[in-house]
Amino acid sequence: MKVLIITGSAHKNGTTAYLTEQFIKGAEETGHEVFRFDAAYKDIHPCIACEKCHDGTLGCVFKDDMQELNPHLIEADAIALISPIYYYGFSAQLKAVIDRFYANDAVLHGNKKAVMMVTMADTSLKTANGAIQSFKGMTDYLEWDIAGTVIGVNCMTLDMLKNTNYPQQAYELGKSL
Ligand SMILES: Cc1cc2nc3c(=O)[nH]c(=O)nc-3n(C[C@H](O)[C@H](O)[C@H](O)COP(=O)(O)O)c2cc1C
Repeated sequence: MKVLIITGSAHKNGTTAYLTEQFIKGAEETGHEVFRFDAAYKDIHPCIACEKCHDGTLGCVFKDDMQELNPHLIEADAIALISPIYYYGFSAQLKAVIDRFYANDAVLHGNKKAVMMVTMADTSLKTANGAIQSFKGMTDYLEWDIAGTVIGVNCMTLDMLKNTNYPQQAYELGKSL
């Protein structure tokens, strides 16, 4: 199975990165082929709704790092979105990539598994509601099957995350795909 991971944090050794590594470990141990795209280190222009992608054959007007991601997005059997919670939603780095799915909307429907993992400082699961609703809406619309989620509360720092079983959950989710 081809597994695409899109991350949304600029912290190379933060909570998102650690969950991502555990998830990759599980997925690779099961024999899956993994491609990781760290959105914070890519050139991704936000969608400007010009609709050029839908009125011809030229695709998106922005010829940026989505060109690297798009073939993986289209071919992936499973897509994992892994992000810190920023102001009750996904980080802007990840959201910019998600909005750019629009250019390939027609070929992204169906036949994919989807995973969401988020980390946050708050101790209440309610803080993840925005991201969860966004993920559920997106997967309903794209007809992707939710394979699992990890919602990491009370994880302001990597040390805090390491004192939880969220890394283990991420590993097992990778293994279970
Ligand atoms: C801009 C910004 C906004 C944040 N917003 C929230 C928030 O709304 N709720 C929350 O619980 N934590 C919030 N946090 C804390 C992060 O979600 C948390 O520290 C997370 O573990 C960071 O992940 P990382 O190490 O992968 O970057 C915010 C952090 C930043 C930098």
